[in-house]
Amino acid sequence: MNPLSSVNGAIVTGIVLMVALALALPGGFDFGNLDRWLHIISGVMWIGLLYYFNVVQIPALAAAGADKGGPGGTGIAKYVAPRALLWFRWSAVITAVSGIIFIEMAYRPAGGGLMQVLMLREGYTIIGIGAWLGLIMLFNVWVLIWPNQKKVIGIVQATDAQKASARVVATMASRTNFVLSVPMLMCMGGQSHGLPF
Ligand code: HEM
Repeated sequence: MNPLSSVNGAIVTGIVLMVALALALPGGFDFGNLDRWLHIISGVMWIGLLYYFNVVQIPALAAAGADKGGPGGTGIAKYVAPRALLWFRWSAVITAVSGIIFIEMAYRPAGGGLMQVLMLREGYTIIGIGAWLGLIMLFNVWVLIWPNQKKVIGIVQATDAQKASARVVATMASRTNFVLSVPMLMCMGGQSHGLPF
């Protein structure tokens, strides 16, 4: 059976390749590194879908709505958006949880921890700002984007007026996250590898 003929097969193949490579390279198993890998890969999934929404889906739905003779955006709203939102909101949770686990595992022995990071204590200022930005973005996903998107794509019943205002709130929250992701990623990479400026 061709593993590339299904999404699950492709995911499993990628993981098998990663494990094989990790075993072939020097160094033993390290849970902290596994958690960091999970953090990065779920973060890529989350922010990748955020960028997809902002630079592809939202402009495409606007164009479909304006194109009076065209097929409209119903297919995207029905088949694409629910799947994208499923991966989007749960990869956001996994990113945040694996980030917090990393803080507790890697920083705690040196006297750091989630509170020290969030209070921007010395040595944790850069990652502290990054963690705050990431947690604000997580809040936006679950409190502003997802409940309003449920009305927009018809998972929850809403009048046309309610849908219109839900669309505005969801779009503004999504754009806010798009903006915040830029400094957030600088802080994520900057804690160990230095800021770019
Ligand atoms: C939601 C809250 C988040 C928390 C609490 C968090 C926490 C952390 C921590 C503690 C580190 C390790 C920093 C170090 O010591 O080098 C880190 C690194 C990193 N994070 Fe996050 N993070 C969050 C969100 C994100 C998101 C959304 C992304 C998106 C891709 C992301 C991507 C990264 C990357 C690429 C690194 C660098 C790993 C490395 O240099 O080895 N993080 N994060």
